[in-house]
Amino acid sequence: MATLAANFKLHKTIAEARAWVGEVASSPYLDRLEVVVYPGFTALHSVAQAIGGRRIGLGAQDVFWEDFGAYTGMVSPGQLRDAGCRHVLVGHSERRRYAHETDEDAGRKLHAAIRAGIRPTYCIGDTEAPGGGRDTAEVLAAQLSTGLRDMEPEEVAQMTFAYEPIWAIGTGQAASPAQALAAAGVIRDTVDRMFGSGAGPAPVLYGGSVTPDNVRDFLHGGGLSGLLVGTASLDAREFLRLITAVAS
Ligand code: PGA
Repeated sequence: MATLAANFKLHKTIAEARAWVGEVASSPYLDRLEVVVYPGFTALHSVAQAIGGRRIGLGAQDVFWEDFGAYTGMVSPGQLRDAGCRHVLVGHSERRRYAHETDEDAGRKLHAAIRAGIRPTYCIGDTEAPGGGRDTAEVLAAQLSTGLRDMEPEEVAQMTFAYEPIWAIGTGQAASPAQALAAAGVIRDTVDRMFGSGAGPAPVLYGGSVTPDNVRDFLHGGGLSGLLVGTASLDAREFLRLITAVAS
């Protein structure tokens, strides 16, 4: 079953996020795919209530690695669970860019989320435009070897990965399905090499300028487990078109 994740980033009030849930919940296809929405922190609890028992998962866009203490402004995994989250994004390129997060930070967050029973999606990808120097496989392998250092195979089995090349995020210039598939292959092979079969086949999403027009191309052939969508997730009607394209 494919995953379709909606990352609202810094968009939507509580009322707007709840209204989105109301519209998306009207899709007749929710039993054919996994939908997960990632609103801002302030909307999480209220969106959890709006979701109620419906088949929409709830996630946060970030988490801190400590459970409690003198960490002003941070949000712990336990607080996320308390608000109704079962998913969290870790290491998104915008966190790396604006909050200067590193792969080491991501590793701590991945551990903490898994410990709290929250499924993290570790976002990795090229940090510069194609032809800019380091190749994709090298960047992915480095982000994986640092971010997953000290992990046990059973922990990695509870993670999802997202290949998100920085040049494709919010630019309208998506990676080609072949590029996304190749990156997913690198991620799976690297995880396999590091952890063996105990970590299971790693689910890999693609993210970066996914739209209702290109979404099916990425899922053709089954090499990717789903999509992480920013811009095209904001409008509920457009997201419903994505759901329909993935489910039918
Ligand atoms: P985009 O964002 O769909 O707007 O390119 C994707 C993401 O950052 O997850």
